[in-house]
Amino acid sequence: MLAAERGHPADVRRLVPKAIKLRYHALLRALSRLVDRVLGIDTAERVDLADFGLAHPERVNYEAGSWLDLPRVLRHIPVRRHDVLLDLGCGKGRALVMAARHPFARVIGVELSPELARVAERNLEASRLPRRCRAVEVVVADAVEYRIPDDVTFVYLFNPFRGRVFDAVIERIVESVDRAPRRVRVIYRNAMYEDRLLGTGRAHLQRVLPGLRPTRRWREAVGVRVYAVDPGRRPVPVRAGSG
Ligand SMILES: C[S@@+](CC[C@H](N)C(=O)[O-])C[C@H]1O[C@@H](n2cnc3c(N)ncnc32)[C@H](O)[C@@H]1O
Repeated sequence: MLAAERGHPADVRRLVPKAIKLRYHALLRALSRLVDRVLGIDTAERVDLADFGLAHPERVNYEAGSWLDLPRVLRHIPVRRHDVLLDLGCGKGRALVMAARHPFARVIGVELSPELARVAERNLEASRLPRRCRAVEVVVADAVEYRIPDDVTFVYLFNPFRGRVFDAVIERIVESVDRAPRRVRVIYRNAMYEDRLLGTGRAHLQRVLPGLRPTRRWREAVGVRVYAVDPGRRPVPVRAGSG
């Protein structure tokens, strides 16, 4: 975590005593392993990007998001047949497995580490969950350089990047909206950089879903927020003779 992030409202370390947090996380991990076993997949264990020589202060290590993020959000925002979901920093693909249960036209995961991307592909094949979307692909790429496809309508971010990497990825989303005007919803878990997203002037907060945690402030810190990124205002054409 960067020094500038300490004191941020989404900095859980500031809010929750370490011993409680460790115990709670151990419980969540045990539950996570159990769900993995039932579904026939492998997403629960954390992975350090340093293990693959990919560590960087603005890249976040692998840790699976919540099983419940997408079901909770998509209960409020029905998926239409042309919708496309992109998970930037998809890791071992837990969110992809959950998204494939919905009738998306396609689901895409982008992951920096080829090793994690391979695990995501294996998980998609092995998952016992029913699937309504067959077109699921995992792309190995640095999200900073990835051109967002112009049919994407949902972007899921589980706090995968920090600082300038985050800014660059948001710029990629805005560029795509400008190339092909449409609304893109950004589903952002643990929204450390909300101010930078809103600071683009192109996103507005639509919905806040508190996380499932024992205290109110902790719930707020790890919750999921949904933003809409809309096409920018087009320049008003100047009429001949006006003024
Ligand atoms: C916190 S995990 C999120 C995992 C997944 N989205 C989920 O919800 O289960 C962050 C992931 O982002 C990936 N990542 C970090 N920096 C990246 C970058 N620049 N481009 C692509 N992936 C990146 C990491 O390898 C890691 O798998």
